[in-house]
Amino acid sequence: MTPPPALVAALERAGQQHLLAFWERLDETAQQTFAAQLEAVDWHVLQEMHRLAAGGGHSRDLSVDLSTAVTPACLRLGDPTNRISPADARHRGAEALKAGAVGAILVAGGQATRLGCSGPKGVSRVGPVSQATLFEILLGKLVAVRRRYGRDVPLAIMTSSATDAETREFLAQHAYCGLDPERVIVFRQHDLPAIDATTGRLLLDGPGHLAIAPDGHGGMLVALAEAGGLEWFGNQGVEHIVSFQVDNPLAMPLAAEFLGYHLLTNADFSTQVVRKQAPEERVGVVVACEGRHSVVEYSDLPTALAAERLPDGQLRFHAGSIAVHAFAKRFLDRAAGRHDSLPLHLAFKAVPFLDSEGTRIVPASPNAIKFERFIFDLMPLAERVCVVEIEASEGFAPLKNPPGSASDAVEHVRAALVAHARRVLAKAGVTLADGVHVELAANRIIDETDVADLSIAGTVIERPIVVGG
Ligand code: UD1
Repeated sequence: MTPPPALVAALERAGQQHLLAFWERLDETAQQTFAAQLEAVDWHVLQEMHRLAAGGGHSRDLSVDLSTAVTPACLRLGDPTNRISPADARHRGAEALKAGAVGAILVAGGQATRLGCSGPKGVSRVGPVSQATLFEILLGKLVAVRRRYGRDVPLAIMTSSATDAETREFLAQHAYCGLDPERVIVFRQHDLPAIDATTGRLLLDGPGHLAIAPDGHGGMLVALAEAGGLEWFGNQGVEHIVSFQVDNPLAMPLAAEFLGYHLLTNADFSTQVVRKQAPEERVGVVVACEGRHSVVEYSDLPTALAAERLPDGQLRFHAGSIAVHAFAKRFLDRAAGRHDSLPLHLAFKAVPFLDSEGTRIVPASPNAIKFERFIFDLMPLAERVCVVEIEASEGFAPLKNPPGSASDAVEHVRAALVAHARRVLAKAGVTLADGVHVELAANRIIDETDVADLSIAGTVIERPIVVGG
């Protein structure tokens, strides 16, 4: 078949006719698939990409004057000197959970490529004793919350084109890890094309396929709204939504105390941070400037500023974002209705492509620009932001790197889960033999009070075991 005339015209207008160079090589099915992919390209977004690539700045001003920016005041989890007491916060958070007013979004569009495997990151096995996957542990936490507070936490899982089919299959095979399938939706983020860094042209990674990549976790805003997810939450009485990343099995987005601070400060956007100790830690930092909060990504923080220390020795920018957020739903509803809520960010990457002869080139150095949106760019739009500092050992053990790496590899994640379990058990009066590996059943134990229910205080654990499993 010949390419649809409307598509040819659109490509000509956008200066992208080269994309049809290998059209004749495709069979009819491949032509139809390719035409659909090209027709789905949002040419307005392409203009935004070109403007950004040419140094024209973000579509919404994200600039932060780092010379005057400071680390914002934080509440600290469990700190009795907070202006809101931890007990009051826990009470308020528990009320919201009991009322079914809290929903959750799990950001799971990432692949395990950086870990040296294919497939969704969520199927990585990290349970130190059980070998449970990230999905089982993280979804299990919602089961534990239901057990304690008596209400489901509706969950929306964001996948990408790379992880969608396998994630759905995993959920079906594992009976939604104990959650009610009626209270779980899976929605897929969009992809964005990569552009040639020199010419601004879209790249082909095959004769009938654009080089594309997921549009960043910020893609959740539009994709969730398009999938009817915001309404779905609303229909179930959800007024606040937490979001968390699939790579952190220690995450505690539904900790009652965290939710309580979010609610009692009437925040639009709350976020958990850990105290950054070393300049090279790869976490974004929360900063405040002229009354607005933002996250400055680690790759955007100049080295000298990242290393700057205050007179007391701590880093000037030490509020390390662990990407656990809570949003007032009304705030997300408003943001979803604004076209410029989440501007694009660009990154130079080596992206394989077809050259003008149709030969596939695998470049050794960056040749292309990829674009992403970040959910934390909503922060400056929030009237009230609440920053809650937690101990990394209690809530942050990210899986980022392949085994054998210096940090954030599966062995570090497992060690952190074991250390956390040992502390919780010790608080509950359980004795542990030296060096024994223990794990807390994620779907059963939130903290030491759940251990108390197991009536194991005073016992000694001498061999590897999943407590509560
Ligand atoms: C991210 C944060 C960083 C934070 C750190 C904490 C960004 C840009 N940076 O860094 O500020 O301090 O986590 O661990 O977010 N994902 C999708 N779709 C996408 C891209 C990512 O679902 O299109 C998911 C991944 O599955 C992953 C998470 O988002 O769970 C983070 O992505 P990743 O690229 O690993 O971010 P980091 O560089 O580690």
